[in-house]
Amino acid sequence: MTIDRYAVIGNPVAHSKSPIIHAAFAKATGQELSYERLLAPRDGFASTVERFVAEGGKGLNVTIPFKLEAFALARKRSGRAESAGACNTLAWRGDHWYGDNTDGAGLLRDLTHNLGETIGGRNVLVFGAGGAVHGILQPLLAHGPRRIVLANRTHARAVELAAHFTAEGPVVAIEPRSLAGERFDIVINATSIGLDTPVPRDLWPNGLFAPGALAYDLVYANQTTPFVRWAKEQGAARTADGLGMLIEQAAESFFLWRGVRPDTACAFPLLRPKDS
Ligand code: ATR
Repeated sequence: MTIDRYAVIGNPVAHSKSPIIHAAFAKATGQELSYERLLAPRDGFASTVERFVAEGGKGLNVTIPFKLEAFALARKRSGRAESAGACNTLAWRGDHWYGDNTDGAGLLRDLTHNLGETIGGRNVLVFGAGGAVHGILQPLLAHGPRRIVLANRTHARAVELAAHFTAEGPVVAIEPRSLAGERFDIVINATSIGLDTPVPRDLWPNGLFAPGALAYDLVYANQTTPFVRWAKEQGAARTADGLGMLIEQAAESFFLWRGVRPDTACAFPLLRPKDS
């Protein structure tokens, strides 16, 4: 019997934690599968995927920079992939790829289940207006926030994105500097400021965190991220990085492929350094 093959495809991909997470899920659920890292040339996504299928590949997680190409490649797509305009998960359906996007569901599961956060009725601030924001807006709006404010360095991008989602709930764009005086219950960093870029203190006003507020960084790292450091300095009551989202989006993908929902608790100790 051949073992079903899965992989995370990206460029770069060597840093990906997905193989560790999916191996833990497979063990916990008793599923027999293999999961590897697949490096595709920047101009060779489709051909790498084609070869993977020919070699028995059943499903892929898709990471930077291929989420839009994965969307285009999928002949059928979930509603949440359509809303995000990008796919982070592909499932082979015998003669075509089915495309899904589990990023938003992963974030919401981490926020509401793991962190015990309520979205309904809350004031939410999202920094950024790129692909990452595109993917999380619909699931956030579905939880009934009082208002989602998009604040982006290039204001026009935030305006355009807010307009795209306005039929789905209360989402507005506000220039970062004009946020001064506003208070938010949940502040999400969805910019590409990762570990090496400092928070733009000249752009983001002080005092944005309401009492008890949660600061959430979509970036996950084995160290405190610049955003989390800034949020703590600013008095955010609670902070989280994107580890939970990473694990929960993986669980959603695993469920799509295998029809079994893993208990994600098995993955956290493998990735969270002991001293944090
Ligand atoms: P992703 O798909 O990860 O969202 P992206 O589409 O390139 O990537 O978007 C990156 C986001 O991070 C954008 O909102 C970008 O702001 P601009 O639209 O003004 O480019 C934001 N960003 C990147 N570097 C930033 C910085 N140094 N300060 C503030 N925002 C930054």
